[in-house]
Amino acid sequence: MTIPRNDAESGLDSVGDRATTLEAPVPGSDRVHSRRAILASALVLSASSVAQRVLAQAGRSPITRAIPHSGERLPVVGLGTAVRFSAPEDPQRDALKGVIAALIADGGKVVDTASTYGNAESVVGDIVQEVSARDRLFLSTKIEVRPAERSSEEFERSLQRLRTDRVDLIQVHNVTRPDQSLAQLRDWQAAGRCRYVGITTTSEIDYEAVEAVIRREKPDFVQVNYSIDHRSAEQRIIPAAADAGAAVLTALPFGRSSAFANVRGKPLPGWAAEIDATSWGQLFLKFLLGNPDVTAVIPGTGNPAHMADNLGAARGRLPDAPQRERIASLIVA
Ligand SMILES: NC(=O)c1ccc[n+]([C@@H]2O[C@H](COP(=O)([O-])OP(=O)(O)OC[C@H]3O[C@@H](n4cnc5c(N)ncnc54)[C@H](OP(=O)(O)O)[C@@H]3O)[C@@H](O)[C@H]2O)c1
Repeated sequence: MTIPRNDAESGLDSVGDRATTLEAPVPGSDRVHSRRAILASALVLSASSVAQRVLAQAGRSPITRAIPHSGERLPVVGLGTAVRFSAPEDPQRDALKGVIAALIADGGKVVDTASTYGNAESVVGDIVQEVSARDRLFLSTKIEVRPAERSSEEFERSLQRLRTDRVDLIQVHNVTRPDQSLAQLRDWQAAGRCRYVGITTTSEIDYEAVEAVIRREKPDFVQVNYSIDHRSAEQRIIPAAADAGAAVLTALPFGRSSAFANVRGKPLPGWAAEIDATSWGQLFLKFLLGNPDVTAVIPGTGNPAHMADNLGAARGRLPDAPQRERIASLIVA
């Protein structure tokens, strides 16, 4: 069933014609459990300042948005694992555990990985098992290989590495041809091995093919590169996804950190407080979330303090159209 994008829940942070809501308060026992989990997670964090921030935020729920095809709500800030999780040395593993702990403690859920991100699936799978967090996360991965038999092997390997018997989302990694089919993914969906199916792109030369696949296949999710300094997706891919009722994940939401390079040495403008942004990272992510057709952003980080910072973008006010253009005016594209 397709849930209308302009859903009925009243929005505390209403943007455009798409409502965003804060989750309902957690009932008594869950709150105790959640508080305990937060305390436990905070202990895992390597930096004590992060632990303090996490504890200060305990009890506050992030903004969520609905997956149009199901109505299931996702917190709007997640985590990407392409770089920092791909080949960590042992000392870095503690920090990565801190990143996932910070995500969970702050009410985040979406963790995006891929079969081709080095060891990232295994690193995520090990940490999630260690902190017993599988049921608190929305695990998204990607399939690379095309022939059905070999892609089945690849998918089984992903499930093994992620230490789970089903993922929440499986995506065709980088659509390049207009005739690409999601049939194999839908078979896995029907067999209960994945809950949603999707496609990805981070290449403008493939956008035409991607639009054709979106129109024909109507995937549950579309993942596309979208950052304040790379906005072409808002002209082409994101509108097509909205028309097809697909949820949108934004890959490369900091443009692999080019967004930060753009403002290096500049102080955060005072008016950032009007949308409750306390850092450049939050301002950039809130800019993306000000687009009502974006379901969640998935910034990559190996730093628990950055994860906690990014999750701040899932709280408070989001920019309206004039505020978004004011933010964009700070960037030299
Ligand atoms: N084709 C595809 O499907 C595709 C392609 C590329 C990416 N993706 C997805 O997009 C995700 C994100 O991409 P990405 O990690 O390459 O790039 P990104 O999210 O645009 O930027 C990551 C960079 O920003 C830094 N950073 C993160 N949070 C920060 C903060 N609060 N303050 C300052 N710096 C911060 C990170 O450094 P620290 O580690 O030091 O925080 C890292 O250098 C990937 O993990 C993947 O899931 C998909």
